[in-house]
Amino acid sequence: MEKKIKRIGVLTSGGDSPGMNAAVRAVARTAQHFGIECVGIRRGWQGLINSDFIILKGEVVRHILGRGGTILYTARSEEFMTEKGREKAVATCKMLGLDGIVAIGGDGTFRGALELSRLGIPVMGIPATIDNDIGCSNYTIGFDTACNTAIECIDKLRDTMQSHERCSVVEVMGRHAGFLALYVGIAVGATCVLIPEHEVNFEEDVVKRIQNARLAGATHFTIVVAEGAGSAIDIGQRIHESLGLDPRVTVLGHIQRGGAPTGRDRETATRMGYYAVRAFAEGRSGSVICTQAGSITEIPIEEALAMKKSLPMIRYEIMEAISAPGVFNN
Ligand code: F6P
Repeated sequence: MEKKIKRIGVLTSGGDSPGMNAAVRAVARTAQHFGIECVGIRRGWQGLINSDFIILKGEVVRHILGRGGTILYTARSEEFMTEKGREKAVATCKMLGLDGIVAIGGDGTFRGALELSRLGIPVMGIPATIDNDIGCSNYTIGFDTACNTAIECIDKLRDTMQSHERCSVVEVMGRHAGFLALYVGIAVGATCVLIPEHEVNFEEDVVKRIQNARLAGATHFTIVVAEGAGSAIDIGQRIHESLGLDPRVTVLGHIQRGGAPTGRDRETATRMGYYAVRAFAEGRSGSVICTQAGSITEIPIEEALAMKKSLPMIRYEIMEAISAPGVFNN
């Protein structure tokens, strides 16, 4: 029979994302609901190695539901990648009497969780990254907020680009995935969107689309580039060389990772936090809490890590069809 869980730790690891605090709060409150004590581990896996913790009593998680960032801090730990580092982390769990760990983050966080579970510590994972690139879950905490932040910034850029009849090249985050770029590009009506999932043909995907937009009457252009698809500075330079435009380049950067989480991120984070702790309370562990077709499911970590999520390319086709249609198509 499974050992009854009396005390758990919760940590945030990897790149932060808006809504992580909402998940931490939900974990702490759900633990309280089920009569489980909750300890916050600060600075991710490194904090577990260093026994860097805070007791998550009621007042600590009060008023954090709508706050960006993570009150637990976050880090990427090299030491946790080593056997010795993980042994120290297990020693902390024993010292603090932690019967389980809820790890909030991305794939790197879950790989750490899997290693820890192999050393006998029960773990549950919660997917949180603005990239939305975690295979096992349709949705990851922070994506909606990051999209809305980028949309708001590009709307502002558009005002000034429109006044000056300019071309704007905007780089958004997404090292390996174009979910953010494509979603944002569709939502702002970008002239074109460059994503890592689609090999860029500069003539077809950029030059021709800007020409089409101009022929259709546009006098300002918005090019959205996912960081994994190329550098906005290079794209701006090539547009200048090919079309004689004088683009203005904006790299949105880490602004996309901050800000108050949207309703969707707060609500999803709260549900995921609840499910993670309820699994512990009911004697289950070793899974990632995922959203699949709108419902919450538990997927064993190893299986979750092996799952791949591909960007629905129909969305790219939709962007191509609607954003800068050719005037001579019919
Ligand atoms: O994984 C989330 C993410 O924001 C990526 O989109 C981006 O490439 C990366 O993190 C940036 O990481 P860092 O905070 O280390 O600069």
